[in-house]
Amino acid sequence: MRLITVKDKQFKSYISSVKISEAVKKVAEKINTDLAGESPVFLAVLNGSFMFAADLMKEINLNCEISFVKLASYHGTTSTGTVSELIGLNQDISGRVVIIIEDIVDTGNTLEKLVEILNNKKVKSFKIATAFFKPTAYTKKLKVDYVGIEIPNDFVVGYGLDYDGYGRNLKDVFVLA
Ligand code: XMP
Ligand code: MG
Repeated sequence: MRLITVKDKQFKSYISSVKISEAVKKVAEKINTDLAGESPVFLAVLNGSFMFAADLMKEINLNCEISFVKLASYHGTTSTGTVSELIGLNQDISGRVVIIIEDIVDTGNTLEKLVEILNNKKVKSFKIATAFFKPTAYTKKLKVDYVGIEIPNDFVVGYGLDYDGYGRNLKDVFVLA
């Protein structure tokens, strides 16, 4: 077992890059089959999904585009409180088939906000692909269409996922030791 230090915490090896790569290929195969004949727009949610997005896209054989977005949360001036929007979306996605690329789905709060935004943009349809999914932490009804690897409710780093900004570059996934 490999122990590493990320910032001030110790993490131990959890999921190997080989396993991740196999899972990514399976997700890509399913998307290629399900969306055959479509010209979708992939929407990779930064920062965490950059590595999954890169690996996934190399296995996609559809006629497709990719955009990178961030979800910005801020406190608006209205009484509704927190307002979210997509930053970096520089193309019109109305009427398009969209595939959201996420690093990890935990409670699903982030995903729910994203989907609300996409619905407001009148996309034709959308699917959700995530590298990792924590089913026991998930609180939403929304279906997560493509899951790379299901994991328990543990905090992980690596493969794009960070601890306080660090650890995103690790090609394996590590869990708190
Ligand atoms: P929700 O709860 O909205 O969370 O589904 C999604 C976001 O929370 C972060 N997250 C993690 N980041 N290791 C991380 O590095 C984890 O185990 C983890 N769980 C959730 C992540 O930013 C994700 O987009
Ligand atoms: Mg994070």
